[in-house]
Amino acid sequence: MAHIWKYPDGDAAVEALADCLTSDIRRTLSRQACYRWALAGGSTPGRLYRRLARPDAAGLIDWGRMRLFWGDERCVPPGDPRSNYRMARESFLDAVPIPVGNIFPIDGTLDPERSAEAYAAVLGEKPLDCVLLGMGDDGHTASLFPDTPRLREECRTVIASRSPVPPVHRVSLSLRSINAARCVLFLVLGNHKDVAVARVMDQLGRKDAFLPAAMVDPGRGALHWFLDQDAAALLNRESQAVSIENTIRRRTEP
Ligand code: 6PG
Repeated sequence: MAHIWKYPDGDAAVEALADCLTSDIRRTLSRQACYRWALAGGSTPGRLYRRLARPDAAGLIDWGRMRLFWGDERCVPPGDPRSNYRMARESFLDAVPIPVGNIFPIDGTLDPERSAEAYAAVLGEKPLDCVLLGMGDDGHTASLFPDTPRLREECRTVIASRSPVPPVHRVSLSLRSINAARCVLFLVLGNHKDVAVARVMDQLGRKDAFLPAAMVDPGRGALHWFLDQDAAALLNRESQAVSIENTIRRRTEP
């Protein structure tokens, strides 16, 4: 079951997500040796990473027992401004006492298929404790895009994919990996995501769901969506379908 959490603004959503995540980390590390967390890419998660880098949050986490992975990566060098690894490193990894050997970036310099195979070996078969995800305004998540052949990959844990927007070549956890996680957390902010959020919420839990973010269902795992009110603006209207179409019409009229 998906838990949908709506907040007045992005800062409140980030604060709540940081609290949820640090609580899960501490609770999990009270009963197991390490915590395996797949980071999200794009720009939105940077707000969470910077919040976790502040001493009041960073001091709650035993960074020596964290193992950090990525949900996806663009096939670019690690120093490229478009690199998800670079974004995370600059947003918090350089500021917290995590051993470099605990950080497992996806190699964006290899051929995408080879990089996916190599990362699958690094990730192993053990389910992740947490996968953090964002969502694009087309309903994609990680680098799983609508109507792409690999979207319903059943066997592989990591796949090469192609984005409709540059950088085209990507490496991504498959839905199989994401849905095997013990906890999946979405952070989606901003009114430019409101239509996609409404469409995804309409598909959540349905077998005919076709938007990648709506196909994320960790089953017995926890699924939490952290939204600000702008991203959630079309939810719980008397008829979401009407709200979605009215919004699209309003935005596309000349
Ligand atoms: C990526 C991300 C991608 C991202 C969405 C939202 O590599 O781009 O994995 O899935 O989460 O595109 O991106 P923003 O947070 O920048 O809107």
